[in-house]
Amino acid sequence: MSSQPRKIVLGVTGGIAAYKSPDLVRRLIDRGGEVQVVMSRGAQQFVTPLTFQAVSGRPVRTDLWDEAAEAAMGHIELARWADAIVVAPATAEFLARLAHGFADDLLTTLCLATTAPITVAPAMNHQMWANPATQANVRLLRERGVRFIGPDTGEQACGEVGVGRMVDPVRIAEEVFTVRGGDGPLKGLKVVVTAGPTRERIDPVRFISNRSSGKMGYAVAQAAREAGARVVLVSGPVQIPTPVGVERIDVESADQMLAVVQEQVRDADIFIAAAAVSDYKCREVAREKIKKTCDAFTLSLTRAPDVLATISRSESPPFLVGFAAETENVEQNALAKLTSKKLDMIAANKVGDNLGFDKDDNALTVYWNGGHKELARTSKLALARQLVELIAERYRLSKTDRKATTAAAVRAQ
Ligand code: CTP
Repeated sequence: MSSQPRKIVLGVTGGIAAYKSPDLVRRLIDRGGEVQVVMSRGAQQFVTPLTFQAVSGRPVRTDLWDEAAEAAMGHIELARWADAIVVAPATAEFLARLAHGFADDLLTTLCLATTAPITVAPAMNHQMWANPATQANVRLLRERGVRFIGPDTGEQACGEVGVGRMVDPVRIAEEVFTVRGGDGPLKGLKVVVTAGPTRERIDPVRFISNRSSGKMGYAVAQAAREAGARVVLVSGPVQIPTPVGVERIDVESADQMLAVVQEQVRDADIFIAAAAVSDYKCREVAREKIKKTCDAFTLSLTRAPDVLATISRSESPPFLVGFAAETENVEQNALAKLTSKKLDMIAANKVGDNLGFDKDDNALTVYWNGGHKELARTSKLALARQLVELIAERYRLSKTDRKATTAAAVRAQ
């Protein structure tokens, strides 16, 4: 794990979520951080500098032109002092100014002058977050290595519901202190993970689905993120929070999941399919609610796309990891799927018997061509971390094998 930040500049910009930032200061200090708060002008409309001074134990910096503060520690010195800059909440306007290299106040100047990693926790109305201008700024900042925590989905201060809430301070502090900052075994790699069930519509109010809670897939996404990967989580409808630092794309049906995954795996290194995708969908979705007009009723189903198998058949698939949830003949069924879907690895578990779906614990046997490993029953997160270590190991070996094969082919020419 890379060294943890001790000296943190916490930037607070002008959004209503600023009322949560004093709590974040506490959480960062609880974890051993020294926190220097820097507030934008807008932030001071929501919370007073005195509040931050009281919780951080340090005078708050608000102005680039404050002679006394500059004499004590100039802004360039402050930029050097910081091991990490965390901006929470980060408004759409702040992201825009950061993306375009503005240095017209203390916080933007510090961000330009520092060599420390910058982490932002955006908070804004969901339409502002979805706006193409904001999304373009987010892409630019991500490319330059700015780390994003959130935003979360949920009810917003404006009363609307959507993506734009600031992530909870406890989780921001956790991410600032525990993520390996790209130093783990999946450093520099993009990992796409599917999780949760899918829903196949019958009519406007009914659907076919299954008991998957998404817990295993979410744990795998978190573990891959902790191991340093950039993680995109393609999720069916579930009731669990997005792991910190993970980019989540929500889908409903198998067809939607396939479309998003096809787009996302183009530049991915590893694809982990943990979703319980529906194997069948309705041949026709009723446009109006179906009425109970007769005693018996038959639904006509047709095959839904197999997301994993489709990616496996594509021209240059990434390293492929599947899951197999089985009620019997676990090994035999898992090995059959490993071969038929041309996977690099498959993680098999027995469902039923108080194991598997919707439980916090799980046990897995992981198979690959020529080997297997048992991962004993433990929490899904602990299990996911072991699985990710194993995936990283096999992925590295696959790259060395491929290089050796290519070298041999070149020599043979
Ligand atoms: N999978 C998928 N798309 C589907 C079905 C499965 O991507 N339509 C993926 C799952 O995410 C999992 C793997 O394929 O990684 C195996 O899923 P499972 O449902 O156990 O196997 P199936 O291939 O559907 O076979 P069966 O239901 O007959 O056991």
